[in-house]
Amino acid sequence: MKNKIHFFESQMEQKLTIAYEYFTTWKELSEIDQSLIVKAFEACETAYAPYSNFRVGASIQLSDGTILKGSNQENVAYPSGLCAERVALFYAGANFPNEKVDTLCIVAKGDLLPMDKILSPCGGCRQVMLETENRQKRSYRILLVNQDDTVTVFQSAHDLLPLAFGV
Ligand code: THU
Repeated sequence: MKNKIHFFESQMEQKLTIAYEYFTTWKELSEIDQSLIVKAFEACETAYAPYSNFRVGASIQLSDGTILKGSNQENVAYPSGLCAERVALFYAGANFPNEKVDTLCIVAKGDLLPMDKILSPCGGCRQVMLETENRQKRSYRILLVNQDDTVTVFQSAHDLLPLAFGV
């Protein structure tokens, strides 16, 4: 049967819920969040995306107030490229190993996704986002700004990757 998980009789079906907030426009967010979003849009302009034409920008607010930016960087050998949020998170890990990530913001421009679709990070990025959280022993907020200006806000990377691999 399609899309049906089979459970043995002795097993109980389990359900998971994830929490997130939804805003009809990112202008409803706090001034601090809005300025972080503006930084992510700035980062979007530095995307190198000649193959997908999908430009992604990420910004990070660290616990000391530092703001970092990253964008997707593609390569003719496709798997060698890297997503915007991973560029930003790895930059944070490499250059600010003692600061914690407070907020990660992701924006995008391009027709790869319909305008009203949630800008949902890829699986590999979710795993990296979770590693950052585990490494700093503190969850952080994730702002996903969709192309229609709506926003989904998560309080933890765990909510984006239930049943994640790892400790
Ligand atoms: N991309 C990101 O930068 N972040 C994501 O979470 C998903 C996808 C990039 C990778 C590639 O350069 C382009 O978007 C199209 O997949």
